Amino acid sequence: RKKVIIDCDPGIDDSLALMLALTSPELEVLGITIAPGNVEVEKGYKNTLKTLQILNRLDIPVYKGEDKPLSRELQTAYETHGQDGLGENHYPLVKIQDREETAVDFILNTLQTTHQVSIIALGPLTNIAVALISNPEAFLNLEEFVSMGGCFKSYGNCSPVAEYNYWVDPEGAKYVYENLPTKIHMVGLDVTRKIVLTPNMMSLIHRCPSEKGKFIEEITRFYMDFHWKYEKIIGCVINDPLAVLYFIDRSICQGIDAYTTLEIHGICRGQSVVDEMNFWKKKPNTCVLTKVDQKRFFREFFLRVLNADETFLKL
Ligand code: BDR
Ligand code: CA
Repeated sequence: RKKVIIDCDPGIDDSLALMLALTSPELEVLGITIAPGNVEVEKGYKNTLKTLQILNRLDIPVYKGEDKPLSRELQTAYETHGQDGLGENHYPLVKIQDREETAVDFILNTLQTTHQVSIIALGPLTNIAVALISNPEAFLNLEEFVSMGGCFKSYGNCSPVAEYNYWVDPEGAKYVYENLPTKIHMVGLDVTRKIVLTPNMMSLIHRCPSEKGKFIEEITRFYMDFHWKYEKIIGCVINDPLAVLYFIDRSICQGIDAYTTLEIHGICRGQSVVDEMNFWKKKPNTCVLTKVDQKRFFREFFLRVLNADETFLKL
């Protein structure tokens, strides 16, 4: 099994990504670290525990991360994810984990003591940047790094050129892109925009009742309304689970290798700049994903998360 730390900011699609990761036998999730992003860290921490509770996996350790981006104030995304960050269902929290270790300490300790550990980052790259700044050597042991963020040919979702995770902490993202010794797999809006959970899929989930299915229905309702209200999309784009499935199975996406960095100032704040034509003569540091098999994504998603059988998948 592939050993992995998941850094996230739940967030509706982060919660779905955790569901996918923890129902995938290929993964050993060593711990979950919380980044400041969609919601403040305290709320993201609680939303993670609520998700783990639905999955009956409260044994997975969760660590709170930095409370704000590297050099800015946090800009949350309540209008997208709701006031509680999980579609305003206000799920009650049953049990809190008692942990002293911070997200950054957990990441560094794990990299130093365990072989072949990878990281999947589903939020702003703040925790990763802080860990990398404080102990760059530890990252020489990092096996693979997948980040949901950025956009290449596609337009942004926070500005014409910027995607939310990199827009929120552009300095953090830039630091990671320019200093991480491991290749970055950029799962950006070019591919995640194709992953639209539709009302049809929701009615299938509804017809096969289960606790997990009910949770998915409840948390995505608000997210669907948001997509219709702001983008006139029927359904909702679930970005983060694609990064998890791509980590498990590379053949779900295709991309190009190119040197990539971030713009941090002015109207291009948070833009991921991909040097596809190699103007800068720099060694590619990133695999930028450009194509995805969305049909296969949903098949795997439902198979894993809902234990769906072939009849369900054919409907
Ligand atoms: C990213 O922004 C967040 O709102 C989502 O959780 C996802 O990680 C998409 O731009
Ligand atoms: Ca996220």
